[in-house]
Amino acid sequence: MPIRTSQKAALFGESVIREMTRLFFARGDKPGVNLAQGFPDFPAPFEMKEAACRAIRDDINQYAVTWGARSLRHAIADKTAHFYGDRPDPEREITVACGATEAMMAALMAVVDPGDEVVVFEPFYENYGPDAILSGALPRFVTLHEPDWSFDLAELTAAFNNKTRAIIINTPNNPTGKVFTREELTQIADLCQKWDVTAITDEIYEHMVYEGPHVRIADLPGMRERTITISGLSKTYSATGWRIG
Ligand SMILES: Cc1ncc(COP(=O)(O)O)c(C=O)c1O
Repeated sequence: MPIRTSQKAALFGESVIREMTRLFFARGDKPGVNLAQGFPDFPAPFEMKEAACRAIRDDINQYAVTWGARSLRHAIADKTAHFYGDRPDPEREITVACGATEAMMAALMAVVDPGDEVVVFEPFYENYGPDAILSGALPRFVTLHEPDWSFDLAELTAAFNNKTRAIIINTPNNPTGKVFTREELTQIADLCQKWDVTAITDEIYEHMVYEGPHVRIADLPGMRERTITISGLSKTYSATGWRIG
């Protein structure tokens, strides 16, 4: 008899992105280009690989503290200060997770109760759908409109109410490539402050911005204390298999 699955598990299927990759490899030697999954095609930095080899040789292989190895949290704080000028407290404000994927799930579980509402821009990176289901949140979708994938401020405003606990912002955005402007992030920040909402931002593509600086909503006035900023090694450092976020 097969194992009976939960009602939650029955609500979603296999990742579309991973299914596409599976089909791609199943095509055998027929020509094809896999545009589905974000596998960077450059090697991970030499220094990072050397440090990993050194750590293995030095027997650094026991449990880290639950919120991540101290040295890594301090390195993340230094890197954040280098790029954005603000140094988060590595003891209180940084948590290491198994990739941005786990960080998003953990952030939603930490912030949202069943029945709360979470604003999600669509089209969205596919994981946010199951994340919302697993956290028990009701997603409120707000459309990013073609051709520039901007949102209508009236539509966004209408999505907020006193049940809204969080908004998920993914900038630069997958799948559209949209980069949210400072003005758009300011409009979102105003709504977050008006409705006491937490901004959960997926900034895994923060270093793939080709015009102007990357703008973090956490750096806008009044947002530092109400933003959970998520990023990871996968894309920038070409290390999707390391699962570090
Ligand atoms: C927007 C976005 N967030 C997160 C991830 C995955 O991040 P990680 O590998 O750190 O779990 C991806 C991968 O495609 C992505 O596109």
